[in-house]
Amino acid sequence: MYLTNEEEKMCNGEFGETIRKSMDILVALGDIYGAPKLVDITSAQVSGVSYKTIGEAGLEYLQDLASDKTAQARVNSTLNPPGTDLDNWKALGFPEEFAIKQNQIVDAYGALGITKTCTCTPYLVGNVPRFQNHISWSESSAVAFVNSVIGARTNREGGPGALAAAIVGKTPLHGFHFEENRFANLVVDVDCELKGADFGALGYIIGQEVGSGVPYFKIPNIPDNNDLKTLGAALASSGSVALYHMENITPEYKVAKPENAEDKIAISSEDILATREKLTTTDKEADLICLGCPHASLEEIKKVARIVQGKTIKNKLWICTSISVKASADRMGFTQIIEEAGGNVVCDTCMVVAPIEDMGFEVIGVNSAKAANYVPSMCGLDVVYDDVDNLIKFI
Ligand code: F3S
Repeated sequence: MYLTNEEEKMCNGEFGETIRKSMDILVALGDIYGAPKLVDITSAQVSGVSYKTIGEAGLEYLQDLASDKTAQARVNSTLNPPGTDLDNWKALGFPEEFAIKQNQIVDAYGALGITKTCTCTPYLVGNVPRFQNHISWSESSAVAFVNSVIGARTNREGGPGALAAAIVGKTPLHGFHFEENRFANLVVDVDCELKGADFGALGYIIGQEVGSGVPYFKIPNIPDNNDLKTLGAALASSGSVALYHMENITPEYKVAKPENAEDKIAISSEDILATREKLTTTDKEADLICLGCPHASLEEIKKVARIVQGKTIKNKLWICTSISVKASADRMGFTQIIEEAGGNVVCDTCMVVAPIEDMGFEVIGVNSAKAANYVPSMCGLDVVYDDVDNLIKFI
């Protein structure tokens, strides 16, 4: 891979150890993927935050990197969800030892200049790339959203690669950074209107079908941004989709060249229904309803507040979101309505990266196909997959 004089100096350690280690990672990735050079980025989003997934080794690596104090993120950079609500972990029942380790991880990232806005929907709270910006993001659902809904350009980076890119301000130029790799190779013709959890079911089916390809969707009704984030998260979890096109909606759908796609698939309401049923793993009732995968927008929290207002929720309810969106929900009075009904607006974390399997829950109710896909495998718990209105039960 071609390196500029300055990049060579970075590799030689002339800008300090943290930059040298970061360049080592970027050069190795560039060589693996055949990148001709590095490209400047405007934004980074770093995964690998939960103590549950990176453990003691990850914590030590980050603390070592941060202790060098020679480098900070050079571009707007934010963190993925950790394993706890960073401020409110005690009241929500998170294990103390886990919560202490978790805060140490987030502090180490903070010392490296990564903003401690911990969310998988950073595009809702200030980490918002522009059309055709080169960026380095690693949360798969966020990658699908920025590539497909905003038209920024990123591959599905791993956590270390995105952290290295944040510190150097560059990423290897390959894959979805090139327009010719952004064309569709599967056309998906949906013959029924979709709403709510239907979008996750559609994403789940097509992710399995297309793998790491680029699907092009034709849907009779117009999805909103919440539907698009749900769809992208599902595509990225059952497959490894980083980019999709939605006809008449996503910025690049006209250059996606669907007429050249190798494959076509038709999806009916029966397909959607069968997948919704398949994603539920038990006939028991959920003891924890966990919404906000990807992290909830203010509109989604408002919708839940309207459903539960003046009632008492039977099961436990968490709506996971970022601290910034929660601040808006607090000011709008939505948090108070939800808390009076017995639910919680939980910051930072989510049902997959939190240690919910150690918190006494057995069946988790979700409206996200990504969560339905991961909760059984990563937490060992059963899931009920449905729309919000059906999941929440009242006394
Ligand atoms: Fe976000 Fe956790 Fe879902 S990181 S996309 S809420 S699994």
